[in-house]
Amino acid sequence: PAPGWAVEADVVVVGSGVAGLTVALRCAAAGRRTVVVTKARLDDGSTRWAQGGIAAALGEGDTPEQHLDDTLVAGAGLCDEAAVRLLVTEGPGAVGRLMESGAVFDTSAETGEIELTREGGHHRRRIAHAGGDATGAEISRALVEAVQAAGIRTVENALVLDLLQDAEGRTAGVTLHVMGEGQHDGVGAVHAPAVILATGGMGQVFSATTNPAVSTGDGVALALRAGAEVSDLEFVQFHPTVLFLGPDAEGQQPLVSEAVRGEGAHLVDADGVRFMVGQHELAELAPRDIVAKGIMRRMQEQGTRHMYLDARHFGAEMWEQRFPTILAACRAHGIDPVTEPIPVAPAAHYASGGVRTDLHGRTTVPGLYACGEVACTGVHGANRLASNSLLEGLVFAERIAEDIVAHPPAVGAPVVPVPATGPLQPSGARYEIQRIMTDGAGVLRSAGSLAGAAAALEDLYAAALGELETHGKTAEPGVDTWEATNLLCVARVLVAAARRREETRGCHWREDHPDRDDANWRRHLVVRLSATEK
Ligand code: SIN
Repeated sequence: PAPGWAVEADVVVVGSGVAGLTVALRCAAAGRRTVVVTKARLDDGSTRWAQGGIAAALGEGDTPEQHLDDTLVAGAGLCDEAAVRLLVTEGPGAVGRLMESGAVFDTSAETGEIELTREGGHHRRRIAHAGGDATGAEISRALVEAVQAAGIRTVENALVLDLLQDAEGRTAGVTLHVMGEGQHDGVGAVHAPAVILATGGMGQVFSATTNPAVSTGDGVALALRAGAEVSDLEFVQFHPTVLFLGPDAEGQQPLVSEAVRGEGAHLVDADGVRFMVGQHELAELAPRDIVAKGIMRRMQEQGTRHMYLDARHFGAEMWEQRFPTILAACRAHGIDPVTEPIPVAPAAHYASGGVRTDLHGRTTVPGLYACGEVACTGVHGANRLASNSLLEGLVFAERIAEDIVAHPPAVGAPVVPVPATGPLQPSGARYEIQRIMTDGAGVLRSAGSLAGAAAALEDLYAAALGELETHGKTAEPGVDTWEATNLLCVARVLVAAARRREETRGCHWREDHPDRDDANWRRHLVVRLSATEK
């Protein structure tokens, strides 16, 4: 679709989580005309849902070096050490600047210092939290208020479609579909020489996920269509402890934070046995992939669909003060964690891969940056360490803003025609894609399951293409159909990468290749679509 209206800016930020709003604040503070566009409301992304907190070496005796060690171990040989070093050394300062922007963390009544908790893979208490288990909500509140106070222009209900580029392939802005009432409804464009993708993750590619409904991989799909490189998409992290609401539960599921285990909850099987003890020196606090696999194995052995998280020993007062969000979510579903163990099972949680960037958040397309979950900066490798994601969003947002201010991207007029987004998938394809991905490319993968998923996804693609080529028809353009199209785009690349990686590493678990294979696979799978594949 051709844009019906255009807005001019120096910087357009796509997405409004911790990464996007931090870039916007820093660019606007440096005098850049900054526009934030976001698909739903400003606080509708994943940041708001983060529970456990934000990891940084803030505690007595902790050091960035120890945080680096834990991050590298979780990343299973695929982290970019230089990127991790930046994350852990710049992290404490970035958290301090977040507090200057208005975020309030929980502090100890005795010392007044920030209270720190533990999560999987961390050998120390290192996780700052807010409102007990509502860290993301507090960060989101503070940043939204700061953006509003700074007078930064924001456009809500604006789904990004595609990148605009000039004759030399440099970034020239984005096209958008805006829903609402007002001057800028319908398809339009923001022209800007710097575009920051901060669109979050792609958890909605699976049936059950901790991600909100908006996490449909839009940024990765846009980047692929624009010719940018994408890396490590096979590494989807499944959070071990998601409230189990039945085998057919779909969409966003309530998270039960690792911090509950960090404060001493036990994982037990159907017989009440603590099955993680003896599997790893950290037992329930082993890195996330190890706990998820431990749960899946015990579920297979016992023929059950879930395990239990037992934190009855916390007592009512601790539950109410330390984990009020989780307590309320459990009780809303008829489970009282004060008196009974919580049924939990793994669900899709985080994309460790994404749009490939350098240490300044630059993608392989000039002027196009990526930040937060949509990006692959190299800090997560094959498996993200718990609570490193909010930190990554903060640290790399600041680095991107510095780069844009120091080296403003140049651009000519957007002469490249708006790329076609089609063939558009019908909106119902979303559920079909989720089912295919959950069956064939979930926690446990094999050559057979992945081949089945790949074939089913190709059928969906071919059906829409056939409609277009034979009957000149495509689904009605709209948010549902663009989202389904983006989901299919990222699902196809994810499955192709998972088929190629014939080993088990980090959160990629191949039943038919159960070992880590450093000789052949200590490397990244980088994808760039050719014109015919778009
Ligand atoms: C949690 O609170 O368990 C989630 C933390 C994270 O995903 O980093």
